[in-house]
Amino acid sequence: MSQKILHRLSQTTNVFGLKLWAVVTICTAMVILVTVFVVWVWGFSNRRRPKLSSSHHCKLSSSKAAQRIAAAVADESSDMFASQSVPRNESSWTDESSSRTGSRSSWSADFPGGGAAAGGDGSDLGWGQWYTLREIETATHGFAEDTLLGEGGYGIVYRGELPNGTLVAVKNLLNNKGQAEREFRVEVEAIGRVRHKNLVRLLGYCAEGPQRMLVYEYVDNGNLEQWLHGPLAESNPLTWEARMRIVLGTAKALAYLHEALEPKVVHRDIKSSNILVDTTWNAKVSDFGLAKLLGSDKTHVTTRVMGTFGYVAPEYCNTGLLTERSDVYSFGVLLMEVITGRDPVDYSRATGEVNLVDWLKQMVGNRRSEEAADPNMRVKPTTRALKRALLVSLRCVDPDAQKRPKMGHVVHMLEADDFPF
Ligand SMILES: Nc1ncnc2c1ncn2[C@@H]1O[C@H](COP(=O)(O)OP(=O)(O)OP(=O)(O)O)[C@@H](O)[C@H]1O
Ligand SMILES: [Mg+2]
Repeated sequence: MSQKILHRLSQTTNVFGLKLWAVVTICTAMVILVTVFVVWVWGFSNRRRPKLSSSHHCKLSSSKAAQRIAAAVADESSDMFASQSVPRNESSWTDESSSRTGSRSSWSADFPGGGAAAGGDGSDLGWGQWYTLREIETATHGFAEDTLLGEGGYGIVYRGELPNGTLVAVKNLLNNKGQAEREFRVEVEAIGRVRHKNLVRLLGYCAEGPQRMLVYEYVDNGNLEQWLHGPLAESNPLTWEARMRIVLGTAKALAYLHEALEPKVVHRDIKSSNILVDTTWNAKVSDFGLAKLLGSDKTHVTTRVMGTFGYVAPEYCNTGLLTERSDVYSFGVLLMEVITGRDPVDYSRATGEVNLVDWLKQMVGNRRSEEAADPNMRVKPTTRALKRALLVSLRCVDPDAQKRPKMGHVVHMLEADDFPF
């Protein structure tokens, strides 16, 4: 029997005159290769942050709304650490900035290899604290489950309490392929020194061995996404006044980042889960891990496209061209989300309603603005207030980036009583 099989295998086939055993081996190898390739492609497309590669994908490319995107267009990440942002026209900051180069280079040297070279004693960094891992562990009861606030694409966030009673949020950055290091640096560079009542304050950080953690002020009333789409959205919906207070605070924070800092900061990931709120509905913009710094000599940078589906400006998504107007677009989507209570991309809705921007443009065009307001709101906004918010949101998502208003202008439009309709 086996003789017979061996004989057949050694017979020549008419596939390039190869022996049967060779043909069988090649076919088996090809099947294995194809299987491995299919599994790899499948695994890749199911990652939390799938790559983005075409303009079509820029519109609706994920089966899950609000997923992060990251597509390589052309990375100029060297820009990112060119300098720290400091408020314009403030002498005290200028003084500090002259010593900045020294302090920055010292931490650049300290961090990459890990190790608490300059820290370990909760030392004062000028703008904040350098915490030891031990201090963080004590504050979070050893990262206990009951202190867990949530988990995002870049890390796990815990609530902690410092010995002086200050409540903090500690973000333990996931350490995949240097991602933690990048997030860590960008966040520290972008907001380490700046302060604004609508920006979450970075109190300090911890860098020991491979560990990278950011320590923020604790914001005690959840985030906007939870309020709009979470379990309380129906039973305890946000009032119109609370919504407008939150968007106005967010607009002020962005105006500050774009118009008062040098170099200006483009946030790049404005979305509802990154807007934290306190009990009096003050917005606190968080998550600067994707931020980019734009010096005054630069109107734009070409960069890797990062952000979250549904919020990313089309020109940035298609070409990687980043200006502060990309944040304006994301803010416009956020404002639409706040007005309607809908997700920016929602595949559970009927065709034509999946993309919030397209749907809302249609509703306004068909003079059905009143129907667009979040049905969960117990008291509806006045027609005037609703129209004002809608028109501001529509201007912010103008496909022509140059026609979008600046954030300072958005603040004025949201505050003005005599808004021209
Ligand atoms: N300073 C803070 N105070 C209170 N809660 C916070 C603070 N920072 C983050 N959180 C909460 O921690 C959770 C995780 O935040 P994180 O930013 O890591 O994830 P995310 O915003 O849901 O997703 P993504 O990674 O896409 O930004 C969120 O529920 C957020 O509201
Ligand atoms: Mg976040």
